[in-house]
Amino acid sequence: MDVVHPPEVRSICCIGAGYVGGPTMAVIADRCPHLQVTLVDLNAARIAAWNDPDLANLPVYEPGLAEVVGRCRGRNLHFTTEVDDAIASADMVFLSVNTPTKTRGLGAGQASDLRWIEASARQVAAQATGHTIVVEKSTLPVRTAETIKQILMGSQSLAGGASPGGESGVEAKTFSVLSNPEFLAEGTAIRDLEHPDRVLIGGEDPAAIAALSAIYGHWVDPERILHTNLWSSELSKLTANAFLAQRISSINAVGALCEATGADITEVARAIGSDSRIGMKFLAAGPGFGGSCFQKDILNLVYLCRHYGLDDAASYWEQVVVFNSWQQQRIARLVVSRLFGTVSGKRLAVLGFAFKADTNDTRESPAIAICRGLLEEGAHLVIHDPKVATTQISADLGRPPDACERGFADDGKWQRAETPLEAVTGADAVIVLTEWGAYRTLDWPAIAAAMRRPAWLFDVRDITDTAAARQAGLQVWSVGKG
Ligand code: NAD
Ligand code: UDX
Repeated sequence: MDVVHPPEVRSICCIGAGYVGGPTMAVIADRCPHLQVTLVDLNAARIAAWNDPDLANLPVYEPGLAEVVGRCRGRNLHFTTEVDDAIASADMVFLSVNTPTKTRGLGAGQASDLRWIEASARQVAAQATGHTIVVEKSTLPVRTAETIKQILMGSQSLAGGASPGGESGVEAKTFSVLSNPEFLAEGTAIRDLEHPDRVLIGGEDPAAIAALSAIYGHWVDPERILHTNLWSSELSKLTANAFLAQRISSINAVGALCEATGADITEVARAIGSDSRIGMKFLAAGPGFGGSCFQKDILNLVYLCRHYGLDDAASYWEQVVVFNSWQQQRIARLVVSRLFGTVSGKRLAVLGFAFKADTNDTRESPAIAICRGLLEEGAHLVIHDPKVATTQISADLGRPPDACERGFADDGKWQRAETPLEAVTGADAVIVLTEWGAYRTLDWPAIAAAMRRPAWLFDVRDITDTAAARQAGLQVWSVGKG
């Protein structure tokens, strides 16, 4: 067998300093002190926040991230808006830019918007020097590597006609393209990066594959580093998210049936999860999945299936997203129905706005659809979240905060509360939308005393002490409980 000698990688650049680029590069810098790692982003405010001397102000909240950044920043981890310089001096460039769903044009509402990936590939093509390994870290439609290669190869032939031997006097510009999708989940990103179930590397160039594997090999067991062809790697990422999201729609569908029949979703989940073929994870009923990935990636899968003429496969996956929207709307509707059919002018405490616990991310958070539905009904929402900024909630709800006095109102309003107790004071209902740890141990006698009667608890995550809430005099609805 041929021995592959990977090219020496000393300097890495990552384009896109977001929820994936930031934590991923921080962990690489931490585990590979011999590498210089530079994160670049067009968003100057984001880069300034990554460079903020106060680590509490980093733009991404993730448990453990501030400690990792604190260890590496300024040593071998750098954040800058000088994109061109960072590309020029890098041996390996990760593309970790956003790939949201297209909002207009061909494939609108389903296909991924690849304008940022194309722009960053063009920038690499223009600025790279010598041999550069280009790594797709963003989640991309299968066969995107083909496009990236074409963009890069175009610049290769423009590089002064230089031969690899450099006969023209100009150093040859050459590229290898790899797919290395990221499987971290927000809220557990550092743990997921430090102890990944697997690292997936797709590619054709054995030397480039060996170079990237060697980086991960500094802390990941080689048996967990999987090698595939480019297309399998790209498609595996979409498929993993589709399977996970499908599980959540499945458990929520059964949860609704539990509510109608007197069964208990926790008991059903334990009973089915004990089957080792099913497993216990990802069986928590809730308000439906949120986050920037699941919906976007399934819709992309739907688009790809249709593109290849597989309409029935497309409809199958599409239903996972359709059902998820139904679950979110159902929660808003049932709150209104339990509160005597109207929430107009009623003060409702909303606990949690992030799409899951331990993140400040609200992208596609179920809280957005549920709160919008309640505002539409004229509710006065008092929202508490430990990490989500008020400006973010304003942007998501499409309106600024306003004081919530009780009284008849056509228009809904919202305001922020600094503590759960402040949120519930004078409220008719408390609605738990995110599974933050602090909401598991709420002081129900104190909360009940502060609310207007009859008072309701809607536990949409099934995490609170509902027995204590009932004992304190609240009426309780909990997701998936008959
Ligand atoms: P993000 O929006 O938080 O970050 C992307 C960053 O890229 C932004 O800050 C943007 O300003 C920057 N950017 C875009 N074009 C640029 C350019 N040409 N030059 C420099 N900077 C540029 O997105 P994210 O959540 O980090 O996701 C990135 C990719 O990773 C997406 O494809 C996503 O699907 C995938 N992914 C996300 C997660 C997650 O949990 N968020 C997990 C796995 C994979
Ligand atoms: C997901 C994938 O898990 C990760 O591998 C991929 O890289 C990015 O997309 P993320 O969206 O960050 O990660 O979080 P995840 O833990 O998957 O949760 C997604 C949504 O599903 C959240 O809204 C969460 O609350 C919800 N969820 C999750 C449930 O409702 N029930 C569950 O049992 C698990």
